[in-house]
Amino acid sequence: SKCYRVTVLPGDGIGPEIIRVAVDVLRLVGSQEGLDFEFKEMLVGGAAIDAVGSPLPQETLDACRDSDAVLLAAIGGYKWDRNEAHLRPERGLLDLRVGLGVFANLRPATVFSQLVDSSTLKREVADGVDLMVVRELTGGIYFGKPKGFGINEHGERIAFNTEIYSTAEIDRIARVGFETARKRQGKLCSVDKANVLEASQLWRERLTIIGAEEYPDVELSHMYVDNAAMQLIRNPKQFDTIVTNNIFGDILSDEASILTGSIGMLPSASIGQSGPGVFEPVHGSAPDIAGQDKANPLAQVLSVSMLLKYGLGQERAAERVEAAVKTTLDRGFRTGDIMSYGKTLVGCLHMGEEVMRSLEASLPAR
Ligand code: NAD
Ligand code: IPM
Ligand code: MN
Repeated sequence: SKCYRVTVLPGDGIGPEIIRVAVDVLRLVGSQEGLDFEFKEMLVGGAAIDAVGSPLPQETLDACRDSDAVLLAAIGGYKWDRNEAHLRPERGLLDLRVGLGVFANLRPATVFSQLVDSSTLKREVADGVDLMVVRELTGGIYFGKPKGFGINEHGERIAFNTEIYSTAEIDRIARVGFETARKRQGKLCSVDKANVLEASQLWRERLTIIGAEEYPDVELSHMYVDNAAMQLIRNPKQFDTIVTNNIFGDILSDEASILTGSIGMLPSASIGQSGPGVFEPVHGSAPDIAGQDKANPLAQVLSVSMLLKYGLGQERAAERVEAAVKTTLDRGFRTGDIMSYGKTLVGCLHMGEEVMRSLEASLPAR
């Protein structure tokens, strides 16, 4: 059988703790489904800065390019926060995304019924939420030039970034948005700031044209980002698929995570036109709880499910992993971030073991 090559990037903070769980889960589901995996662990982020002086060593990028999928945990930490731009862990992540051309970031926010009471929102608001944020990932204000520091005409220090999108960049992410909506409930909400920003005006214009010409079956709406931030909390069930730019997508997906109970539950898939995708939780390296076995590994485990589905086309294995997460929640196990009355508080590794127990139990007895 085919052997899938997966590059594993633990990164920083809670990264090594959660990725260990995820790799174990991938190995186990592989053995159940007859899939072979070869894992190659590489350096990225602060760990790579410390070891070899670069947040994305060339050999890491080469290994990623040379693999079938990339499983990434998270990067960053206080230790490197004062470094100059090119020696920050975040630079490694951004360069990885551009280096692999993964311009579309799918961030599903699905509320598991077991966790409705872990959400800070009322049950009737959170229950049944199932939305997908399609975030543009390799353009916009994160990468626009000019950017940098300078001095203005009054002799004051200034700093600037540029929000910039070409029609080609908008069109390709728009199509991912429409295709995603088409496979879901057929509703696409494009979020922008077209009342103020030219880049958003071009965004809205292209979305409208592509929608009319190529996707007349998808119901397209537009919303300003400030209103969207409010509507996400007021009535999240109005949303099916959201498509938005890099920075709005970053912010709105963290906001959406709270509908699900915790940011520790949100996976993501970053994909391009071709080549390997990057599968990673939405959350960061959580330095405040790193090294304490407190992290919720489920966002990372659900990223394994997305890797199987979107990265390798192994839908059945993907569903098996997601089902094992649900079974584990049904069995009452909770990390601190999703803990509620009457449930069993466990650490990161223990949660991982329970997910594997659920996976094993899902095989019919022979
Ligand atoms: P964060 O997502 O790391 O943490 C925010 C809060 O959520 C913290 O209180 C943290 O303990 C909690 N949290 C996050 N993940 C959790 C999990 N799996 N289980 C339980 N609790 C969890 O965001 P931050 O604190 O703003 O950033 C910390 C570092 O991570 C920064 O260096 C930032 O740049 C980086 N970061 C990296 C990524 C990434 O690698 N994709 C994403 C976001 C932030
Ligand atoms: C994310 C993170 C990154 C982003 C940072 C760490 C560069 O917040 O993956 O959501 O802003 O894209
Ligand atoms: Mn983010």
